[in-house]
Amino acid sequence: MSDISNAPAPAVNLPGYWEEIYQRGDAGWDLGRPTPAFRRLLDHGQFAPGRMIVLGAGRGHDAREFARRGFAVTAVDFAADAVRDMRALADPHEPVEILQSDIFDLPKELDGAFDYVLEYTCYCAIHPLRRAEYADVVARLLRSPEPAEGKPGGTYIALAFPLDDRESGPPFPVSLKEILSLFGEKGFDLLSRETPSDSAPQRRGREELLIFQFSRRANPSTLRPATG
Ligand SMILES: C[S@@+](CC[C@H](N)C(=O)[O-])C[C@H]1O[C@@H](n2cnc3c(N)ncnc32)[C@H](O)[C@@H]1O
Repeated sequence: MSDISNAPAPAVNLPGYWEEIYQRGDAGWDLGRPTPAFRRLLDHGQFAPGRMIVLGAGRGHDAREFARRGFAVTAVDFAADAVRDMRALADPHEPVEILQSDIFDLPKELDGAFDYVLEYTCYCAIHPLRRAEYADVVARLLRSPEPAEGKPGGTYIALAFPLDDRESGPPFPVSLKEILSLFGEKGFDLLSRETPSDSAPQRRGREELLIFQFSRRANPSTLRPATG
């Protein structure tokens, strides 16, 4: 990967950067519907309903879809415009808990509270220097493994995008090698991976669906977070 650590980036660490994009009507990442690969997983009953958190949930299409299928969903985004739209789109019959918060500053009470963390285009939205910290957040939020009782921890469902070698972002380029190594170090085992054939046409072949199980608790990263 080319050196993007010198990008004049930390604006992406702040909600204002994202709010401006929503206000300009430039949220081109928004599919306007749930992500097809996630719908397929749900159609195949691959995951038992449980408690899920969606990081960088945007307008919440995926969060609402999982809630509709019986999951207890918390959707987090720090952009006021995204949160306002999520609230406006909320289905009172399938409620989603909506949190306006930085994912790096979530309340302690959420530690270990989730069976699932769902990720789509949040990992590529944060500054690449924060990726180890992001993996720590995922490990913190998921139900802990209990090796003595033979019980695995929670599940991380990630659709990794964009798998290309662009030089800047967001979206910042992601590499499977990096994700597998980062989450492996944090105690995650890869359960499955696939290149979805049902990706949105403009993303086809440029994303990979990864399912990880949190199996061992490792030490959190000692990397210092990039400041806003
Ligand atoms: C590329 S958008 C993706 C939105 C949604 N996942 C989707 O696929 O439509 C990235 C989202 O992550 C949010 N975001 C970026 N960094 C964040 C952070 N540190 N904490 C919370 N939300 C963040 C942005 O506000 C934006 O809504």
